[in-house]
Amino acid sequence: MFEQGTVDVELNIPNKEIPILPLRDIVVFPGITVPITVGRPTSVKLVDDVSIGDKLCGLVLQKKKTEEDPQYENLYKFGTLARIVKMFKLPTNTVYLLAQGLERIEIEKFVQKEPYIKAQIKTIKEEQKPNTPEIEARMRNLLHQFQKAVSLSPKIPEEESYITAINIKEPGRLADFIVANLPLTTQEQQDILETFDPIERLNKVSVFLNKELEVLKLQSKIQEETKSKLGKAQREYFLRQQLESIRKELGEEDEHAIEIKELKKQIEESGMTPDAMKEAKRELDRLDKLPPQAAEYHVIRTYLDWLVSVPWKKSTKDNLDIEQAAKVLNEDHYDLDKVKDRILEFLAVRKLKKDTKGPILCFIGPPGVGKTSLGQSIARALGRKFIRMSLGGIRDEAEIRGHRRTYIGALPGNIIQGIRRAGTNNPVFMLDEVDKIGIDFRGDPASALLEVLDPEQNHSFSDHYLDVSFDLSKVMFITTANILDTIPPALLDRMEVLELPGYPQEEKLMIAQKFLLPRQIKENGLRAEDLEITDSAISKIIREYTREAGVRNVEREIANILRKIAKETAKGKKGPFKVNDKNIASYLGPVKFFSEMAERTSEPGVATGLAWTPQGGEILFIEANKMSGKKGLTLTGQLGQTMQESAKAALSYVRSKAKRLKIDENFFEKNDIHIHVPQGAVPKDGPSAGVAMATSLVSLLTGKLVKYDVAMTGEITLKGKVLPVGGIKEKVLAASRAQIKEIILPEKNEKDLEELPNHIRKQLKFTFVKNLDEVLAHALNRTRKPENRKQK
Ligand SMILES: Nc1ncnc2c1ncn2[C@@H]1O[C@H](COP(=O)(O)OP(=O)(O)OP(=O)(O)O)[C@@H](O)[C@H]1O
Ligand SMILES: [Mg+2]
Repeated sequence: MFEQGTVDVELNIPNKEIPILPLRDIVVFPGITVPITVGRPTSVKLVDDVSIGDKLCGLVLQKKKTEEDPQYENLYKFGTLARIVKMFKLPTNTVYLLAQGLERIEIEKFVQKEPYIKAQIKTIKEEQKPNTPEIEARMRNLLHQFQKAVSLSPKIPEEESYITAINIKEPGRLADFIVANLPLTTQEQQDILETFDPIERLNKVSVFLNKELEVLKLQSKIQEETKSKLGKAQREYFLRQQLESIRKELGEEDEHAIEIKELKKQIEESGMTPDAMKEAKRELDRLDKLPPQAAEYHVIRTYLDWLVSVPWKKSTKDNLDIEQAAKVLNEDHYDLDKVKDRILEFLAVRKLKKDTKGPILCFIGPPGVGKTSLGQSIARALGRKFIRMSLGGIRDEAEIRGHRRTYIGALPGNIIQGIRRAGTNNPVFMLDEVDKIGIDFRGDPASALLEVLDPEQNHSFSDHYLDVSFDLSKVMFITTANILDTIPPALLDRMEVLELPGYPQEEKLMIAQKFLLPRQIKENGLRAEDLEITDSAISKIIREYTREAGVRNVEREIANILRKIAKETAKGKKGPFKVNDKNIASYLGPVKFFSEMAERTSEPGVATGLAWTPQGGEILFIEANKMSGKKGLTLTGQLGQTMQESAKAALSYVRSKAKRLKIDENFFEKNDIHIHVPQGAVPKDGPSAGVAMATSLVSLLTGKLVKYDVAMTGEITLKGKVLPVGGIKEKVLAASRAQIKEIILPEKNEKDLEELPNHIRKQLKFTFVKNLDEVLAHALNRTRKPENRKQK
C-alpha cells in the first residue's frame, strides 16, 4: 500500500533547481509515500547527495522502461516533487528509499546532465475550493466503488486503505490516493498525474475503478464456480462419512457395506478367470459408490450375482468305470449298440488321457426312438449333470448368447443359464432339434451355436450379458435332429452323427416288455403282479394301434391300459388283470390302423412304393388310372418337382416299350392318364418312386395285378435303368412294419442292407434289380381276364 501523509505547505527551493530521479515503472503521487529501489550508479549518487542536503528531488517517469541512461528527451515533462524520508544502502550498491510525494511539478528546463540530471521546475498547486454537493456526491460514489474493490481484491489491504480514503477531504487527493492503489499501467498513472483539474481527475479515476471492479467481479465469479464444483463431490463424501459414523454410533451395522464385503468374498472364491475377476471388481467398485436406491444398483447387483454363480471351477468327476457305465446304459435302453459303444469308447480314451475334449454327438432319427432319453442315460453313466435346451424355432441369437447388459432386463443366453442350472462346468448338454433352428433379422442363431459347438472356439465362449469369456470345452454337447438336411452345414461339420433309424416290430416288443411296461407300471402306482399283458397283446398294439418308427405311442397306449387297470384297482377290484390280443379292444377301443395290404392291390394300376420321411420310413401306394381323352397326364397328391419328372419319365418309358410290353401302342392317343399318390395332404418328393410309378402304369395298361406283398423303391432313367436311392434302412423297416414280404431294390443299394439287424434281413426277401424289365418280372403276376378290363 502506498501511504498518504501530510504535505509541507511551504517549500523552499533555491533557483527552483532540483535533481531529477528517473523512475522506470512507478508514478509517485503527491501525498503518497512509496518505497523505491535504486540501482543505477547515477541514481545512487543522486540519492546520496540529496539525503545529505535538503532531501528534495523530482521523481519523473521515463518514457521507455528499458532505457538504461535516460536523457532529457526520454523523460516525461511532468513529475512529482518528493522528499526522501528514509534510505539505506545494501552492500550490493543498491539503495532502498522511502519517498514522500509532495507536489506535481513541471520541468521547465534541464540544467545539468552530469553526474545526474538537474532541472529547473515549477510546482503545480492544487486549487483549493470548497466542495460542492456534486463533488461531494462524486467523491462518495468513488469511495463506494473503492470499498467494493477493496473487499474483492486480495491485493488491497481492506480496512486501512478504506479508512484512509474516507478521511481524505479533497477530491484531487482522493483521486491520487485511489489511483496509487489500483493496478494500472504506468501510462495510465502518468495520465492521471498530468490531469491537474481535481474534478476531471476524480472522473477519470472513477472510470478506471469501474473497469477494475468488473474484472474483480469476474475473477471472483470464476473462483466461486471452481470452488462449487469441487464442493459438491466433497460434500457428498463428507455426508456419507457422517452417515456411516451415525450408524456406527447407533450400533447399526451398515447393510450396504456388509453386502459389498460379502460379494467381494464371493468373487474371490468363485474361481473366475482373471478377466472376469477384473470386470467383477470394477463393477463391485461402482456398486460400492452407488446408493442402494439407485436403479443402476440393481442392474450391477444382478450382474455380479450371475458372475459369481456361474460354475467357473466346479465340475463333477467322471465315472471312468467302463463296465459300470455299460451297465447303466443297458439298464435304460434296449439295443442302440452303436451309440452305446461310442460312449464307452469316449470313456476309455478319457481314462487314458485326462484332458480329452467332449465329443459333440448328433443323434439323428425319427421321433420317439430314444434320442433324448439316451442323452439322459449317458449323463447318468458318466456321473455328469444333464441339461436340455430345445432349439426348435429359435430365431433370436440372443437366446443362445444373451442380451447386452445395456438392455433393460437383460439376461445371459440359454447356454450360460443351462450351465448355471447344472451347477457344474462339465454337464451333458443336450441341444434338441438342431434341424429346426431358424434365421431372421434378429441374428443368426446357427452361427452363435457354431461358437458353442466348435471345439476350436468354445473354450472362450462369450455371452453378451456376461461380457467375459467362459470355457465350454469341458461340456459334452449332444444335439438331436429328425433330419440331416436342414442342419446348417457348418454346424453339421462339427458334429459326429449317429443314426437311430427306428425299431422293427420285434425290437419294439422287447423294448415294450423290458422297459416301457415296467416303467409305466411304476408310474401308475401298480405292482408287476397286478397284471399280465401277453406278447400278442403288445404286438397288436404295435401293429394296429400305432404306426411309427419309435416307441413313444406304444408307451402311450400301454399307459392307457395301465390307467384303466389302476382305476379298477382303486375301485377295489382285485387282479391280476389279464390283457391279451382278444380283449385289448376293451381297453383301447377299436384298432386304429388296418393293414391296407389285402384290399389295395385287388385292381391293376396300384403299386407299393417306399418313401423316406423325417418320421422314419413309410409305404406309399401309387395309383394309375386312364380315361378316354387325348394325351393328358395328370399328377396329384402334392408331388414335388422331382417326383413329377419321375412320373413323366415312367410314362415315356412305358410308351416307348409299349410293343414289347404287349400294350396298345396308341393308348396315349386315345386316353388321358392320371397318377395319384394318396395321403394327398402330405407333400412328397424325390426320385425314388420312379420304379413304382412305372410298375403301376404297366399294371394298369396290361391289366396285370402287382403282387400284394411286394414293395419297391428306385429311380428310373428314360431307358429303363434302375438307379440307387437313399434311406434304405428306414424304408426296409417301414416295409417290415407293414408286413411286406419282398422288397425290390436297386442293385447298387445292396451294401446298405449291412446296417440292418440280422433278423430283419432274414424276415424279408430282397430282390436286386438293374432295370425295369426285372422289376416287372418280379412284381407283376396274374393277368386279369380281358373281359374284366373291358367292363371297366
Ligand atoms: N431303445 C430303447 N430302450 C428303451 N426305451 C426306449 C428306447 N428307445 C426309446 N425309448 C423310450 O421311448 C420314449 C421316447 O424317447 P425320446 O423321448 O428319447 O425320443 P426322441 O428320440 O427324443 O424323440 P423326439 O425326436 O420326438 O424328441 C422314452 O420314454 C424312451 O425311454
Ligand atoms: Mg427328444
